[in-house]
Amino acid sequence: MSVLNVDFTKEIARLKKEKNAVILAHNYQIPQVQDIADFIGDSLKLSKMAADTEASIIVFCGVHFMAETASIISPDKTVLIPDLDAGCSLASSINPLELTEWKKQNPEAIVVSYVNTSAEIKALSDYCCTSANATKVVENIPLEKTILFLPDMFLGAYVAEVTKRKNIKIWPGECHVHAGIRSEDINSMLKNYKNAEFLIHPECSCTSSTLYHLSKGDINKDSKILSTEGMMREVKTSTNNQFIVATETGILYRMKMENPQKEFIPIKNDAVCKYMKKITVEKVYNSLVNEIFEVKVPPEIASKAKIPIERMLAITA
Ligand code: 13P
Ligand code: SF4
Repeated sequence: MSVLNVDFTKEIARLKKEKNAVILAHNYQIPQVQDIADFIGDSLKLSKMAADTEASIIVFCGVHFMAETASIISPDKTVLIPDLDAGCSLASSINPLELTEWKKQNPEAIVVSYVNTSAEIKALSDYCCTSANATKVVENIPLEKTILFLPDMFLGAYVAEVTKRKNIKIWPGECHVHAGIRSEDINSMLKNYKNAEFLIHPECSCTSSTLYHLSKGDINKDSKILSTEGMMREVKTSTNNQFIVATETGILYRMKMENPQKEFIPIKNDAVCKYMKKITVEKVYNSLVNEIFEVKVPPEIASKAKIPIERMLAITA
């Protein structure tokens, strides 16, 4: 049977059963991949799923650091990523040498790494966090301790603002997609959609101006800064019917599917992560058939990287 004639959805369902595999997909995946996934979620939910699943194979439809996290949490499972080029510009913004140097300059500090980092960076960290729990993780660290927060400067600034903590040093990294969502974008949307609820991902460069708008009362008071899964929960429970969504546009598909009666408007149509879009249904099929591409973190790195991830999961259990 040529690949052209394959009914991918049917074959993927058959292979999943035959190989005891599970498909995890991030909220930014293309609609067709979301449709074949067993679980869809944000980084936190997917790491919990990876920890809890009984499957022997995890096909991770997301980016490389997410598959690495699954491999660190579940070293006995085979973790596959359908395309090895699914990277992350934010995760690439710090390397182990840079972190080692930063730690040397701040020997007493506690290192809090966003989950969007390589396994080597996690292995050099004290705590891990995601956009859903960054504030909670930081609040758990004794006030007198200096924190090195990395690598996202907008998330770091947001956490510092919310926790009112002065002793946080922030690495100047950014995600190219979210850094491009600026305060001008919020301001121009506010002109046209005065009453809409705004949902902002904390990696956006407009996060602090959103906090300013909220404090001034010139934005719908229900507007929130949330992780992608936090946004999914909010659109379901909110009494508002119109939402301006400030994050990668892939999430709008799931929002519409689960809330067909509500209206979702992307803050920017070009807020698209080219890495997330590398994964296709055909590549998922190929990944399951050939059991490629395996993401395996070397045990000496995995054992160290597991500690900050487990500390995070314990705080947000
Ligand atoms: P979430 O954990 O909020 O889904 O964010 C992951 C991510 O990569 C954001 O760009
Ligand atoms: Fe990384 Fe940004 Fe893509 Fe998220 S949207 S995976 S942070 S490059």
